[in-house]
Amino acid sequence: MNEQLLQANSNAHEANTELVLDIRNLKSHFFTAKGVVPAVDGVSIQVPPGKIIGIVGESGCGKSMTAMSVMGLLRYPGKIVGGSIILSGKEITHIRPKELAKIRGNEISMIFQEPMTSLNPVYPIGHQVREAILLHQKISKEEAKNRVIDIFRAVGIPEPQKRYYSFPHQLSGGLRQRVMIGMAMVCRPKVMIADEPTTALDVTIEAQILRLMKKLCEEQGTSIILITHNMGVVAEICDYVYVMYAGKVMEQAETFTLFEKNSHPYTQGLLKSIPKLDEKTDRLYTIDGVVPNLLHLPEGCSFCTRCSQAQKRCFSEKPYLYETGQNHGVRCFQYESGVHLDGK
Ligand SMILES: Nc1ncnc2c1ncn2[C@@H]1O[C@H](COP(=O)(O)OP(=O)(O)O)[C@@H](O)[C@H]1O
Ligand SMILES: [Mg+2]
Repeated sequence: MNEQLLQANSNAHEANTELVLDIRNLKSHFFTAKGVVPAVDGVSIQVPPGKIIGIVGESGCGKSMTAMSVMGLLRYPGKIVGGSIILSGKEITHIRPKELAKIRGNEISMIFQEPMTSLNPVYPIGHQVREAILLHQKISKEEAKNRVIDIFRAVGIPEPQKRYYSFPHQLSGGLRQRVMIGMAMVCRPKVMIADEPTTALDVTIEAQILRLMKKLCEEQGTSIILITHNMGVVAEICDYVYVMYAGKVMEQAETFTLFEKNSHPYTQGLLKSIPKLDEKTDRLYTIDGVVPNLLHLPEGCSFCTRCSQAQKRCFSEKPYLYETGQNHGVRCFQYESGVHLDGK
């Protein structure tokens, strides 16, 4: 691990700055025929201005549903059943779709894993990004077009004037993801959520895209929530990290702390399975056992069935997210303390 980088990232994260996004005790459940699935179960995430916040965890742990809840994109049978989402001091948890449409893409935007499904195949990419601008800003089509060409240049699309007229299928995966980043950044949002934005790309392109996102956000003061299952990616660019498992935050810490002092057995497992730089696999983790079915969670800690350090009580009692140090919380009885961060 690059220690200098980690140290730099750690120093960049200061506490007590005014938050751009404050997710408090969010609960989003799915009401299925088989029962209630607690996909997001009391998640609190704080995003200060200009920072990169990572959410990591294995597939199915609730990362995307947290993001979809924030974006107001959760669909039936999913529903926000508790908590609040505060964007720049404004409560947006249950605002009307019309209000939300004004915010989405403008103050907060999202990039998805597979850009092909987010881009419309029948329109040139330039027009699609132009429409995204015109939706939020009262400027002429000509001006909007110039803005698109500028942002295409900024995200490293070669020959932006010509590419403006390209269709999505004429671009490589990496270029399409650059278009999506451009589209997400063009209105200079306060927060951009990137849900596994580079998982479908090869490692060299992945590194380029991540660096580009970081650079743009630094220039524009945009905060990023970066969702990933790759701890290597977290180490490279995040300031602060939330580790999720079965709908809950299991550990939260500054990146440096997480890598130096990781405390939760689940985090330890994730860190052991960091892929080598030149390795690209879909199955990264080798923690024994499988993610539990959210319909049949263990009675105690949700990780107890896979935890090598589990004690008797872990099977019957649920641990809180205990505060173990400054900006550091761990949901494990080994770190039990009087102060816990749940519900805050
Ligand atoms: N349409 C759905 N119906 C029922 N459950 C769902 C649905 N979508 C997601 N879930 C539940 O939400 C959990 C979290 O999903 P998700 O947030 O997409 O995981 P991640 O992004 O971490 O891989 C899944 O494990 C699943 O149990
Ligand atoms: Mg996901």
